[in-house]
Parts: sequence; structure tokens; C-alpha cells
Amino acid sequence: MSSAVFVSRHPLVQHKLALLRSKWTEPKKFRELVREIAQLLFYEATQDLALAPLTVETPLATCAGYEVAERIGIIPILRAGLGMAEAIVEILPTVHVWHLGLYRDHETLQPVTYYNKLPSKPDIDLTIIVDPMLATGGSAVAAVDILKQWGAQRIKFLGLIAAPEGVRALSEAHPDVAIHLAAIDSHLNERGYIVPGLGDAGDRQFGTG
Ligand code: PRP
Ligand code: URA
Repeated sequence: MSSAVFVSRHPLVQHKLALLRSKWTEPKKFRELVREIAQLLFYEATQDLALAPLTVETPLATCAGYEVAERIGIIPILRAGLGMAEAIVEILPTVHVWHLGLYRDHETLQPVTYYNKLPSKPDIDLTIIVDPMLATGGSAVAAVDILKQWGAQRIKFLGLIAAPEGVRALSEAHPDVAIHLAAIDSHLNERGYIVPGLGDAGDRQFGTG
């Protein structure tokens, strides 16, 4: 078994992704594009959410409607996942946001965990990890390990750009985790960066590096 992998073919996603990749895109515009693409991918990744019926009073009459019936936890991997999490809160304010701090050691490329804000009980129906880049896959695999040890039952990964190596690593380690992306690129370079990619997603959002 391997993960279900969804790469968006939506024209708006592809249009905005090209702008995001450009080295001429400044941090302010970059953050705006991360937010917009994250919302579009979240929309696509949540088509299977369960709904509960409710009654709505319009100014004219009473009618049937629906509300999202699932408790959703968004898990941004710091730092670069922050912008994606904020974008999701904008369109679905009922989600919970629990931060995980992981960074890649520049020498070994291994993930280092430095922060965990998960609550004590996994009182949640669906958790969605958000991180723009799936490179070696080390950070995503570590994040899913942490969520599973915590007790999460249903986990999705939402990213912007992946390398084939990262998709393979995540899919082999956690075949039950669906992967939603805007693109799968060519390869990783010798420093573990996705090619063509967009560079360092954290640095580009926060103007560091
Ligand atoms: C980036 C990115 C992922 C990780 C992906 O974070 O946001 O978390 O690298 O690489 P991997 O798939 O090889 O693990 P980074 O370590 O640069 O930290 P930052 O978000 O604080 O910049
Ligand atoms: N992290 C990034 O921000 N970019 C890459 O290309 C790989 C890891």
C-alpha cells in the first residue's frame, strides 16, 4: 500500500505557484501567495469532510443547511507552515491549530524537534499537517510519527511543493496519510533543496537568510 497523492491541476493553483516560485517575488507578495494557494489546496483536500444538517433562518424563510461535523486540527510545522495555517483559519475559523517546531539540520538533513504544542488528548477527528516543502520527507515523517504516538487516527499532509524523494519517504513510512500538493518537482540537489522548487520557504516568507 502507498499513500494517496493528489497534485492540484486547478488553473488558479498553477498560476499562483508560478508567481510563488519566481525569485523576483518579494516576501510580502510571497506570503500572500502562500496564503492563497494554501486555501485552494485546503478546499480540495477537504472534499470528504462529514456534514451535519442544521436549520437556517434566512430573512425570508427557514431552510435546511449544513455545517462541518468534524473536529479538525491543523498542525503547522514551524516556521514555514505558519502562513498556511493562518490561511486555513481564515476560511474555517473552527479549526484548532497546534504547532510543531521542527527544523532540518543543515549538515545531516535530519529533522530536529524543538517545540510541541499538542494538547494532552487527541480529541479530534482529522489532523492536517501543513508545511510548504516536502524535500527529503524527514520532517513530515517525524511530524506524522509524533501525531500517531499522540493518538491521531486520521492524518493528511498539505504541502505546496514536493520532491519525488519526499513523497516516496512519507508514503513508505505512512501509507495511510494522504498527500495533497500543488506540484511534484524534478529532484533534490546535493544540499537537499527541491529543484526547481522555490528556494527556502521559511526565509522567503520571513525575509531571513
Ligand atoms: C523546511 C520546510 C520543511 C523541511 C522540509 O523547514 O519547511 O519543514 O524544511 O525538508 P525535509 O523534507 O528534508 O525534512 P526548515 O528546516 O528550513 O525550517 P524553517 O521552516 O524554520 O525555515
Ligand atoms: N526546505 C525548503 O524551504 N526548501 C527546499 O527546497 C527544501 C527544504
